[in-house]
Amino acid sequence: MSTVHAARQALTDLTPSRERVLSDAIAGLSAQPPRLPSKYFYDAAGSALFEQITRTPEYYPTRTELALLEQSLPRIAQKVGPRVHVVELGSGSGRKTTLLLEALDGPVAYTPIEISRAALLSSIDHLAPAHPDIEMLPVCADFTQPVDLPEPEEEAARRLLFFPGSTLGNFEHDEAVVLLRAMRQTMGEDGLALIGVDLHKDTATLEAAYNDAAGVTAAFTLNLLKRLNQQVGSDFDLQAFHHRARYSVPRLRIETQLVSDRDQEVTLDGHRFRFAAGDAIQVEYSHKYTDESLQQLLDAAGLEVIGRWDTVAPQPAFGLRLLRRR
Ligand code: AVI
Repeated sequence: MSTVHAARQALTDLTPSRERVLSDAIAGLSAQPPRLPSKYFYDAAGSALFEQITRTPEYYPTRTELALLEQSLPRIAQKVGPRVHVVELGSGSGRKTTLLLEALDGPVAYTPIEISRAALLSSIDHLAPAHPDIEMLPVCADFTQPVDLPEPEEEAARRLLFFPGSTLGNFEHDEAVVLLRAMRQTMGEDGLALIGVDLHKDTATLEAAYNDAAGVTAAFTLNLLKRLNQQVGSDFDLQAFHHRARYSVPRLRIETQLVSDRDQEVTLDGHRFRFAAGDAIQVEYSHKYTDESLQQLLDAAGLEVIGRWDTVAPQPAFGLRLLRRR
C-alpha cells in the first residue's frame, strides 16, 4: 500500500483540457465529412453509460470475452509464466483484471496506464485491497505512445501488457499500427501482450449490439454533444441529432454517426457549423477482425501471435491473442 501512496503524489492528471477538446472539435467539424474523436465519449457520464451498455442483452463483447477469459486463462497463464509485471492499457478495475491477476502465477506488480487520474486511482482503490501481494504502480499517461514504466521492487520475469475489450477496434488502421508499435516498445525485449479482439460476424448481430433496444448506446453517443456543450460551451441541440450505427462489410467496422434531424447551425467558441437535415458527423469506428485484417496490423507493428483462443459457436465470435515481438 505504501507504494500506491507514493505513486499517487507523483501522478499528474492528463485529462484533456478545454483548449485541447475545443481545438480537436473545431478541426474535426471543419473536416469533410465532419467528425468528432470517440475518445471524448468518456467523461464521467459517458463512462457510466458505457458500463450500462456492457449489461444490455445485445452488447455481447463484454460477457463473451469474460467467458472466454475464464475458460482460457489457465492455458494463457502457463504460456506467460511466473512473476510477471502486468501492465493494463486503460484503467481496469473490473472482473477481467481480477480474473487475470488471479490466474497468473505470482504476478509481482500491476500497472494500469490511463490519462484520467481519477479513473486510475479508483481502479487501484478497487484492486489493491484484494491483491496485497501485488505491487500497485499506476501510471498517468497516454498509452498510444510508448510509456516509461516504473520498475517493481521485486524483479519481474517479463512484462505482460493487457488490452482487453477490443478497444483496439476503436482505432483506424494507421492509428492502430502506431498504438501496437508503442505497445511493442512498452512491453520490452521478452515482453508479451494479451489482447481481446471482436471478430467479423453477421451484420444483424453486430448492428443489434450497437443499436440496443433500450437506447443506452444512443444516449452514450449523444452524450458526446452534451460533454462538448458542458466543457467547451457549444450549443448542440441534443434533440436535433440522432444516433446511427451501421456495419460496413467491406471495411469490417461499425460506423457510428450523429445525424442531423433538420437544417441547423451549431456554434463552438465563435465558429459556426451548418448541418442540413440528414448530414452525419462520424463519431466512432468499431473494427471487427478477420485473421487477415489482424495479421496486417500485427505485421506492420512487428508483432506475432504465439497463442490464440476463440469462442466456439453458438457464442458470438470473439478472440484473445497472445503476442510477442517478431
Ligand atoms: C470501448 N469500445 C471497445 C466499445 C466498442 O464496442 O467499440 C465502445 C462502444 N461503443 C458503442 N458501444 C460500445
